Amino acid sequence: MRHDREMRARRRIIAVVGVVAVAASVAVVAFASTTAAGLPAYTNGYQKWPKINKKPFTKCGPPCAHGGIKNVYASRKKIGKKYPNGTVIVKSIVDQGTKYVGKVAVMRKVKGRWQYVEYTRDNPKSRYTVLAKGQLCQSCHAQAKANDYVFTKR
Ligand code: HEC
Repeated sequence: MRHDREMRARRRIIAVVGVVAVAASVAVVAFASTTAAGLPAYTNGYQKWPKINKKPFTKCGPPCAHGGIKNVYASRKKIGKKYPNGTVIVKSIVDQGTKYVGKVAVMRKVKGRWQYVEYTRDNPKSRYTVLAKGQLCQSCHAQAKANDYVFTKR
């Protein structure tokens, strides 16, 4: 019957809408680990962590990778020669000719290994997006192995 077919079609539409609603709520949960600015939640409040540089610096390297005016913040202190698991180190970078933090380079120690990600944004109101990560960063930071892969020393 014609009416039956219509009803079935309508039920199918309702089912599809339901799936979309569930997908949307999953997306919201995934977002929850990210700050409003688009950085991972584990960097929250980094501006208040102790700095491991003495003063904001512009010196780059060697080896030079991150230009601009920089500060380096560490969520935890070294224990002996190593940073403990869970430590997050953030380097904020104010690019030359700008007045806002446009790049944030992050190292996070998970199960004894550093994970590396760098974020960027092109104006102070936009969200950060990933600029680079992983092996590229690690290969250079290997040169700071003696200080647990961290170049900046207090
Ligand atoms: C060519 C070498 C090189 C590469 C590649 C590099 N870095 Fe660095 N990084 C440095 C140097 C040198 C410093 C010390 C501060 C400075 O000179 O800016 C540093 C500092 C840092 C710091 C502050 C802690 C510290 O080691 O002093 C973080 C966090 C960081 N880098 C993350 C990253 C991430 C994430 C990437 C990849 C996207 C990356 N770095 C790629 C050389 C490099």
